[in-house]
Amino acid sequence: MNVFVTGGSRGIGRAIVLKFAGEGWGCAFTYVKNKAAGEETVKLAKKINSQLPVKYYKLDIKNAAQVDQVVEKAINDFGEIRAVVNNAAVVRNNAVAMMSDKEWDEVIATNLTGPFYVIRSFLMHLISNKNGRIINISSLAQDGCSGQANYAASKAGLIGLTRTIGKEYGAKGITSNVVTVGYVPTDMTREHLSPTLHDFWMKHCPLKRISSSEDIANLVYFLCSDEGSFINGEVIRVSGGLTYAP
Ligand SMILES: NC(=O)c1ccc[n+]([C@@H]2O[C@H](COP(=O)([O-])OP(=O)(O)OC[C@H]3O[C@@H](n4cnc5c(N)ncnc54)[C@H](OP(=O)(O)O)[C@@H]3O)[C@@H](O)[C@H]2O)c1
Repeated sequence: MNVFVTGGSRGIGRAIVLKFAGEGWGCAFTYVKNKAAGEETVKLAKKINSQLPVKYYKLDIKNAAQVDQVVEKAINDFGEIRAVVNNAAVVRNNAVAMMSDKEWDEVIATNLTGPFYVIRSFLMHLISNKNGRIINISSLAQDGCSGQANYAASKAGLIGLTRTIGKEYGAKGITSNVVTVGYVPTDMTREHLSPTLHDFWMKHCPLKRISSSEDIANLVYFLCSDEGSFINGEVIRVSGGLTYAP
């Protein structure tokens, strides 16, 4: 079986690729700028299983034509793709009163419109296989987060998109779910979030620990496995019991 992961070059996306590789799935994944990180993900996946097909593709998910081209190429390269994971995202933080059109548009285009393009492009393939899994990666910010109106709106939007896919295409054998992340130390959080986030997390997370990318990858894999076949239209947090963002 094969998985397609957007933003598999770094962070949580890389952990998702490596989890699927460890379970024996072929992995197609994308990067947008960081080719060296993409190569490193391939190297790490091959270390897990040198026989596995693992390929990476340059893709800006904001661009619908590029999405169609890359999806077509991945399907040609891999034959059947069973699971599609929309993981790539960006943050451009600002208070609402200060937020520029560019900050708003870029986040919505990448985090919400991009996943829509990817899903639309894969749907006929998944339907023809009568078996498909779609996972959209969201954030606790989906319920609102100070300084992240654009990001929160994009992640809340993913919930409506996900549940609609689950209703429209469930009868075709396709499940669609959201995995909601709390806080994971990655480039995204290191570069864009306040250093106090770590303290907030340790204070309020009932499990009193920071989650790893692997915590997220484990649930994504479960939902895509045969064991996850009756879970559809759900929004599942992997956040150690913390249910809100600051
Ligand atoms: N880290 C957290 O605490 C946290 C919390 C809540 C939710 N999440 C969610 O978890 C997911 C992964 O986050 P992360 O922390 O692993 O992020 P990250 O380390 O910043 O990695 C982002 C990935 O997305 C890719 N990407 C960025 N813009 C793109 C575009 N326009 N087209 C295609 N790919 C693009 C990047 O590719 P390049 O490497 O080429 O730049 C990279 O692979 C995101 O959906 C994020 O919103 C993360």
